[in-house]
Amino acid sequence: MSSPITILAVLVATVAVVVLPAEGARAFFVFGDSLVDNGNNNYLVTTARADSPPYGIDYPTRRPTGRFSNGYNIPDLISQALGAESTLAYLNPELRGEKLLVGANFASAGIGILNDTGIQFANIIRIYQQLGFFEQYQRRVSGLIGEDETIQLVNGALVLITLGGNDFVNNYFLTPITIRRLQFNLQDYSKYLISEYKKILMRLYDLGARRVLVTGTGPLGCVPAVLATRSRNGECAVEPQRAAAIFNPLLVQMIGALNQEIGSNVFVAVNAMEMQNDFITNPQAFGFITSKVACCGQGPYNGLGLCTVLSNLCPNRDVYAFWDPFHPTERANRFIVRTILTGSDKYMYPMNLSTIMALDSKT
Ligand SMILES: *[C@@H]1O[C@H](CO)[C@@H](O)[C@H](O)[C@H]1NC(C)=O
Ligand SMILES: *[C@@H]1O[C@H](CO)[C@@H](O)[C@H](O)[C@H]1NC(C)=O
Repeated sequence: MSSPITILAVLVATVAVVVLPAEGARAFFVFGDSLVDNGNNNYLVTTARADSPPYGIDYPTRRPTGRFSNGYNIPDLISQALGAESTLAYLNPELRGEKLLVGANFASAGIGILNDTGIQFANIIRIYQQLGFFEQYQRRVSGLIGEDETIQLVNGALVLITLGGNDFVNNYFLTPITIRRLQFNLQDYSKYLISEYKKILMRLYDLGARRVLVTGTGPLGCVPAVLATRSRNGECAVEPQRAAAIFNPLLVQMIGALNQEIGSNVFVAVNAMEMQNDFITNPQAFGFITSKVACCGQGPYNGLGLCTVLSNLCPNRDVYAFWDPFHPTERANRFIVRTILTGSDKYMYPMNLSTIMALDSKT
């Protein structure tokens, strides 16, 4: 039997638990594609998924989670830097109550900036739907801690958005002839993507985001999948490399202009191409034996098809830059996040995450 006092004590304890995380680590929200999906696609009918072995082989549970990595992915490692637990996928039923205050991951493998990117994956959460879920999330949190507290939580949060790679790989370059290719040359297509990316970022701002890490594409021509199909002699494929070399500087420019319009450094460009180029041009300096061959896959460079239980699998994931034909290993993700934290403005423009954290802890 419980006395009224223990019931009261339990109530007080519950309220305290619900309020605490907001006062501890800041919340973290993630939007984008497979590089940052924490498992949303597990709940969808789509072929873009990472929920069977050997995905997750080096994750603490040694089991697949939906992350496109052998272990942790980039958002996990950023959460760790914030002193927070990993955000849950928004579609994960465990994301309720106080867990909501940690933040949420809305990302979905296969999506891009454009609504027609990744159509072959059918049922995935396109970026405007991810933003719609963010609104729904805020209504749910308002019911928990009130509207003002929710606005504070969102304004004080760190946001990561990762888009663009699929607009090339799973749209423009998907087949030798595509509608987008007939419509645009690479320069004009990149400009179009940037103008659409800008609308997405402005929508995020309208929804309350005030610190947003924005990543562009990696070195698209150098990933094992592209080496397997488009490379001569193992050299990075020229046209996808040119795409990344056009797109990324335009993104940095757009972000500079957008911050100026807003009058504050809300958006920070993460130059994933420069970060990955470092270990692609000199893998040995990072302790990798190769940056061309994926750990898990089949065919040339292990770059064909999907990573499945039937694929070749390397024994030591730490000496490979690429886990599967498209995605970095946990160890490569650690180098990327280290650069996000402490990189110079060649990598992080206008500032790195350490600087952001120092600035925001003063306000
Ligand atoms: C993409 O879809 C969203 C909503 O579904 C719509 O608001 C937006 O205008 C579309 N973008 C383009 C370029 O058609
Ligand atoms: C972060 O960026 C700042 C400003 O560009 C730079 O001075 C600093 O060395 C970088 N690294 C760290 C750890 O802050």
